[in-house]
Amino acid sequence: MTPEGERLQKVLARAGVGSRRAIEELITAGRIRVNGRRAELGVRVDPTKDEVEVDGSRVPLDTDLVHFVLNKPEGVIVTADDPHGRNTALELVDTEHRVWTVGRLDAGTEGVLLVTNDGALTQALTHPSREIPKTYVAHVGGTIPNKALDLLARGVELDDGPTAPATVKALQKGPQGSLVEITITEGRNRQVRRMFEAVGYPVKRLVRTSVATVSLGRLRPGTFRRLGLEEVRSLYRACGL
Ligand code: URA
Repeated sequence: MTPEGERLQKVLARAGVGSRRAIEELITAGRIRVNGRRAELGVRVDPTKDEVEVDGSRVPLDTDLVHFVLNKPEGVIVTADDPHGRNTALELVDTEHRVWTVGRLDAGTEGVLLVTNDGALTQALTHPSREIPKTYVAHVGGTIPNKALDLLARGVELDDGPTAPATVKALQKGPQGSLVEITITEGRNRQVRRMFEAVGYPVKRLVRTSVATVSLGRLRPGTFRRLGLEEVRSLYRACGL
């Protein structure tokens, strides 16, 4: 709490929590904490330093922070600059802010790619110890047997070690091909492709449908949208921030 800071109501209203009046009610009801202590009416905060929680979850106050979800199309690469002149994922996100991607997707993989300038969130989402769930739908040839699905779920041996248990569900099975939904909590290079190769069913198409609490929804390939305050807050919660 900072005597020369801004009024808490003003800061929270700007962050999108609600009207100043609604925020005053939250303060009176004891639902807001500043740096872990119950906030009183009239308190001032420094949005760049103080930590404010509403109902126990942190509210990002720095309005310069932006968070987007991009539906990365197939063939678009994720690195900042491609020597072969291919399109990069960041070129698809139209923003004034200096942003980066949270982790990577292979050029051939489609789907959810988070793009932000939020360093703390990026670190938390990509740190292996947080075990952030990432869900993919893999298209493979032929009828994938239950034995292969069990192996994927229990963990398969890759050249960089065994994979952690995964959640695996066949969405469709048939001689024309199978669709398998798999949720992993690791993020090794080409992991999903390598897992399916290891069980004898190489992936023909791979779509990431969610990362933590952010799903693809109806976002068309090549388009992006800015996450709303509630979505950002649930991402913070998902990675323990
Ligand atoms: N696993 C893969 O094989 N590729 C990706 O892009 C992401 C996860």
